[in-house]
Amino acid sequence: MKSHIESLLAQALDVLKQQEVIPTDFEARIQVDRTKDKTHGDFATNLAMMLTKIARKNPREIAQLIIDSLPEDAQVSKVEIAGPGFINFFIDDSALANQLMAALNDDRLGITLPQAQTVVVDYSSPNLAKEMHVGHLRSTIIGDSVVRALEFMGHKVIRQNHVGDWGTQFGMLLAYMEELRAQSGEQAQMELSDLETFYRAAKVRFDESEEFATRARKLVVALQSGDEYCNKLWREFNDISLSHCHEVYERLGVSLTRADVRGESAYNDDLAQVVRDLDAQGLLSESNGAKVVFQDEFKNKEGEPLPVIIQKADGGYLYATSDMAAMRYRANVLKADRALYFVDLRQALHFQQVFKLARKANFVDDNISLEHMGFGTMNGDDGRPFKTRSGGVVKLVDLLSEADTRALELVRSKNPDMDEAELAKIAKVVGISSVKYADLSKNRASDYIFSFEQMLSFEGNTAPYLLYAYTRVAGIFKRATDVDLSDAKIQLEHDKEKELGTKLAQFNEVLTRMVSKGQPHALCGYLFELAGAFSSFYEACPVLAADTEEQKKSRLLLAKLTAKTLKQGLGLLGIETLERM
Ligand code: ARG
Repeated sequence: MKSHIESLLAQALDVLKQQEVIPTDFEARIQVDRTKDKTHGDFATNLAMMLTKIARKNPREIAQLIIDSLPEDAQVSKVEIAGPGFINFFIDDSALANQLMAALNDDRLGITLPQAQTVVVDYSSPNLAKEMHVGHLRSTIIGDSVVRALEFMGHKVIRQNHVGDWGTQFGMLLAYMEELRAQSGEQAQMELSDLETFYRAAKVRFDESEEFATRARKLVVALQSGDEYCNKLWREFNDISLSHCHEVYERLGVSLTRADVRGESAYNDDLAQVVRDLDAQGLLSESNGAKVVFQDEFKNKEGEPLPVIIQKADGGYLYATSDMAAMRYRANVLKADRALYFVDLRQALHFQQVFKLARKANFVDDNISLEHMGFGTMNGDDGRPFKTRSGGVVKLVDLLSEADTRALELVRSKNPDMDEAELAKIAKVVGISSVKYADLSKNRASDYIFSFEQMLSFEGNTAPYLLYAYTRVAGIFKRATDVDLSDAKIQLEHDKEKELGTKLAQFNEVLTRMVSKGQPHALCGYLFELAGAFSSFYEACPVLAADTEEQKKSRLLLAKLTAKTLKQGLGLLGIETLERM
């Protein structure tokens, strides 16, 4: 509806251009917003105010000219000028009702499919040397939800799990793996089941034994020069580490598969070429033996240039080097229209630098949009990065287990008579959803405080609230199995019906915003408001005890579309719904 009004306004502007009220080459930015107060109609635009300079008239005058030039439209029941020159649009209730009927009969809830794009999404991307920790939670959850929404809107999504599977620390890990295996295969297997401990033990050996450290360094060199034995060890190690990651994905209900893994090492063969290409374009400088790129756009507070390091003095390549190679792969081989990076905001400078450099060096052309979808830190109660009581990093698996336990207590306290098997099933959904939703519902750019109490509350914008709201809506149908809805129609009469209908009709706009900005919290906020609009409707408008049969059916259809929208919306957040809780 919003884009429909925008197109009506664009047509009116064309008329005004023909009448030479505004110059024909003028490109106006048409902005239409939903009104907060329904007495001002459903949509409003400040377009007339934007045109005062160019048309040399006062805004109310221009507003009138625009209104006079608007085409006739069945969906708009009234247009009026308000205040200094706003134009308000009133939507015809029956047009809205028709739109809702169409959504009910459509698998994609009547969303308008945009021009399909190829979108590469880089998310999760943990470092394989260690176990996944809470820092990777945000990337994994937010990325996966945006991926689902993009696919729902008809885009072609290519997931890229850009894991850190390369670098000097692998020498140390391989040396330790070798040492353990020489002692006992079983012991090695067991220690590898906990990568955190494994990493620490390897580090202890590295620090205490000169002989071990030398072996580790030799192994890195052998690994990098393609030595068969070292590569086999390395593949085995990564395989174990990746299977830990996939256990977590499975538990989280994240859609990443092994086929989506394309780690840093995948670009090894291209790194020497990256250096040559940058050099050929005269972009490389030397700094203490290292090859670096200085770009005028990047300076620190003291005005000193901030380089991108491409190759170390010892010949080793860096994180930025593989990102350069990855960008050109994504642009030229995968043919992406957009490449999205769900990575911690602390890497913002890195991405600004490599994006800029990729364009300068013609690694990518203007057809691809490179977007760092950064996120803030997950903090503990003390406002500092989330840590265990002893100050260590919190492992993701431990956090999820605690969420499960707490959810079980919660569900049991609400349903003292429920059998254990069902309790456990419900608690599993509630636990995982709560962790995911708490993260998704915050603006990703801000830091947030991780709190089990808050995320497991039935009040406010939380998973338990929404899951419960869904069971309430779905519950209505359990009591209305004998109603035949085949000839039913939505009629919007009561104010609360209109408000609910208006909310339902916004799904499309919300998804559009979510995928363009990579902001799942827009969808969370919407679902929360939708649940609220449904509650107010349900309080004011009896459904099963409605005055007439038509009214009852119409209200059942509204409930049905609400249930469908909530289920779909939660599904796009990667959250399963429950019929009972
Ligand atoms: N492995 C990196 C980390 O844990 C994230 C990689 C993000 N993706 C990228 N193309 N740089 O910090």
